[in-house]
Amino acid sequence: MNETIQKQLSHRSIRAFSDKAVPKEVLDTLLAVANRTATSSGLQLSSIIRVTDAEARRRISLICGQEYVNQAPEFFVFIADCYRNARIAREQGFDGGGIRDMDRFFQAFTDACLAAQNVTTAIESLGLGAVYFGSVLNDPPELIRILALPELTFPVLGLGFGYPAQDPQLKPRMDMSLKVFENHYKVFDNYRENIAAYDLELQTYYDLRDKGRHSASFSEQVVKRFKAVREKRSLLLNVARKQGFDLKLDE
Ligand SMILES: Cc1cc2nc3c(=O)[nH]c(=O)nc-3n(C[C@H](O)[C@H](O)[C@H](O)COP(=O)(O)O)c2cc1C
Repeated sequence: MNETIQKQLSHRSIRAFSDKAVPKEVLDTLLAVANRTATSSGLQLSSIIRVTDAEARRRISLICGQEYVNQAPEFFVFIADCYRNARIAREQGFDGGGIRDMDRFFQAFTDACLAAQNVTTAIESLGLGAVYFGSVLNDPPELIRILALPELTFPVLGLGFGYPAQDPQLKPRMDMSLKVFENHYKVFDNYRENIAAYDLELQTYYDLRDKGRHSASFSEQVVKRFKAVREKRSLLLNVARKQGFDLKLDE
């Protein structure tokens, strides 16, 4: 055990923040951490947009449907970015199909996720708190407009952070025996049986968190999420195509 791992094991999403601003030195450090993150093929295929404009933030909060987007003192959007390298190639006279390759898209998406998590770990190590906003993808075309994203870019994740104004319980996770396998994937005969204890644990967590409200078990949440298909989110690959990526889908 060491301090880094202790911090990682006490991760909680923070959704309420004090008014205290995040100092510039902290922001500079976080950006240096993002820049130092491993990157696929060394191509550095991610970018960060720090949203400081209140109106832009308000519009993003409407996309997310989460008012606390506005409350976080800092808000980053991590971008999968193949535009910069396309420009670097074009300025050397190369404008071939590889620029639009879906392989690069996934490299860029992975780069953006890794940078986001590295930054989040750094945020938490400094005693600040953060929450991801996958909900920025509830309306990708609108987000692309707000952030003026050029072709060959794609928004991946929002991250709100600042000094915590809440101290939430750790949210329980299911047992690792259901998620870690050796050599080959393990299919269980009965998932609900294996998850029964976790269902109860999560329900108890919600009972304590939201007293008086019906607490859904994990099993119930899974079904609820599957039922709530968001039309715009299920069209994400269409947005990737509109952004110039070649999906090369088999018919
Ligand atoms: C990719 C991703 C997207 C997420 N999007 C949102 C979001 O839009 N809004 C939100 O409040 N939390 C969001 N979260 C936070 C999760 O809800 C949270 O991590 C999860 O419930 C576990 O809770 P914990 O982080 O406190 O352990 C997101 C997390 C991830 C990894």
